[in-house]
Amino acid sequence: MRVWVIFSIVAATVVNAAYSSDIVQYWVDQSAILVNGTIIGGLQSPPSGWYEAIVQGAIYLAATKSSHEPLAVQQLAVSHAAHDTLLWTFHGTRLHATVNSKLRFILPAIGLDATSASGLRAIEIGRQAAKKVIIARADDGINNFVDYIPKPASPAEFIRLFGGVGGVTRFKAPAPPAPESAEFEAALDFDKAQGMRNSTIRKAYDTETAYFGRESSPITWNRLAHVVVGNSLATDVKASAKFYAQLNYALANAAITVTDLTWNPLLLPTPNHQEYLSTHATFGGDRINVTLSSNVTIDGVGVVTRQITSLAGAVKENGDSRVFGGIHFQYASDQGGKTEDWVGRETLARFESHWDDF
Ligand SMILES: *[C@@H]1O[C@H](CO)[C@@H](O)[C@H](O)[C@H]1NC(C)=O
Ligand SMILES: *[C@@H]1O[C@H](CO)[C@@H](O)[C@H](O)[C@H]1NC(C)=O
Ligand SMILES: *[C@@H]1O[C@H](CO)[C@@H](O)[C@H](O)[C@H]1NC(C)=O
Ligand SMILES: *[C@@H]1O[C@H](CO)[C@@H](O)[C@H](O)[C@H]1NC(C)=O
Repeated sequence: MRVWVIFSIVAATVVNAAYSSDIVQYWVDQSAILVNGTIIGGLQSPPSGWYEAIVQGAIYLAATKSSHEPLAVQQLAVSHAAHDTLLWTFHGTRLHATVNSKLRFILPAIGLDATSASGLRAIEIGRQAAKKVIIARADDGINNFVDYIPKPASPAEFIRLFGGVGGVTRFKAPAPPAPESAEFEAALDFDKAQGMRNSTIRKAYDTETAYFGRESSPITWNRLAHVVVGNSLATDVKASAKFYAQLNYALANAAITVTDLTWNPLLLPTPNHQEYLSTHATFGGDRINVTLSSNVTIDGVGVVTRQITSLAGAVKENGDSRVFGGIHFQYASDQGGKTEDWVGRETLARFESHWDDF
């Protein structure tokens, strides 16, 4: 009897000795590192919104299925969901060892014996969650070959949106100014003057903004989310998983829709960018006060650190950074912000009832 009691206490202690930080944030970070251009072979615009939404959808599913379990079981379940979806999103064997190393690294911190009954249960929950999302996304359009020719994209060429918000045609933006119109010429002059490498009129602060915003936006927004949320959801895996699933569905949907159907790529053959105004709703308010550093350092410009006191301000600067960087027209940035705001609100509005429309 006494032995049994001690054994139970030890077992309980092992189960409770979980990873002390936020496991969902751990996987958000690993995902960002994995998708980074250098690692997947120098892709300029990696599909960072798409794969992150898939990973976070599976994590949230695993979190809901394991929410009645001890913390370590939840952590192991979401870790396997993350691991399996990451392997799938990278579609191949090249990154297997790297993805495996991310899981191997975190297992001792979670501290749950993978061969115990609860360990096996956790692994099964994670695997099943990943499998469900992977099967659902297998025909989402990402693998379709679309030759790059300068014409407006057809709706069939868009990746399916996340969370049951409908098709991309719902989110149609107004046409850009016609080529050679006065409005277009003015925009062109402005953007050339601001975005030129050796511009003499761009303010030093704006040049810094361009470098600050150089990173793939979903990675930046997730990092901002980390500094705002901190460790506050570390023991509530389901709440953390829900938060990051909402954020990343919205980021992915915004990224997919902003390449609008009326766009004339001859004039603007650059990729879309994301600036997700509805982070207001996700974060629960506009006023924040956090320090955020850039991660991408190019042209000998070091880490740029900014104090972010308003989400709306951060969204605006994120859009402007592409103008100052000579990548986008101001009107594209402004319209992009509006469309993304709309898509983000729709994604959040439907999340409770449609989050598992993967
Ligand atoms: C900037 O550089 C380009 C060549 O790259 C040159 O044609 C142009 O005159 C320069 N502009 C200024 C304002 O120095
Ligand atoms: C934000 O925080 C910094 C450093 O903690 C502080 O100096 C600054 O006054 C704060 N700004 C606002 C608007 O609260
Ligand atoms: C960027 O992020 C990676 C991964 O978190 C980290 O190893 C690296 O030190 C960061 N670089 C900068 C310049 O902050
Ligand atoms: C991603 O790659 C860029 C370019 O090499 C690098 O500056 C940045 O630190 C990397 N970010 C992460 C999160 O590893």
